[in-house]
Amino acid sequence: NHHHDNDDLRSLIRTVPDYPKPGIMFRDVSTLLLDGAGFRTMIDRMAAMVDSDTKFIAGIEARGFIVAAGLSYALGLGKVMLRKPGKLPGAKIGVDYELEYGSDRLEMHIGHVGAGDKILLVDDLIATGGTALAGLDLIHQAGGIVEQSLFIVDLPDLGGADKLRHSGIKADSLIC
Ligand code: PRP
Ligand code: ADE
Repeated sequence: NHHHDNDDLRSLIRTVPDYPKPGIMFRDVSTLLLDGAGFRTMIDRMAAMVDSDTKFIAGIEARGFIVAAGLSYALGLGKVMLRKPGKLPGAKIGVDYELEYGSDRLEMHIGHVGAGDKILLVDDLIATGGTALAGLDLIHQAGGIVEQSLFIVDLPDLGGADKLRHSGIKADSLIC
């Protein structure tokens, strides 16, 4: 990632200091989502990065759903929802995890992803990687294979993308 790449999109993301806790620099994608042309540019650039053998796109609630939906529409691929607790009606598995500013849980339906299916993991942002690794754990438990992950924003100082890479998974983002 060269710093001049995607400067048009970088300028649409604002930073809110001390949200949701003191010391956190919150990278707020709501201003990018507000810009219709910016959203299209973002999805088009991410779609061009998706491996051609991808079977399903797994998006992480809530902001990751917006990325997953755009890519799913652009590429005509189905998607899997990795949800916050208590939202899925069917048989499911769950993982508790920690992220930069708290802890949470992700759940996933079982019986939807087949053994050996190639799953692209997407979210709006990777920080510590706690959330993405929880998603990876769920997909693996369900029998899926993850070779690639995509994010709008990576905060590399927090090390999450490197954790994915150390697990042998490509981790790319538009903005570092
Ligand atoms: C944010 C973001 C990622 C996660 C990244 O989600 O959308 O999912 O944090 O942090 P990590 O790399 O340290 O795990 P959040 O839990 O705030 O939920 P939201 O999408 O519902 O706002
Ligand atoms: N999720 C985890 N850390 C974050 C940050 N600094 N900004 C936005 N979302 C986040």
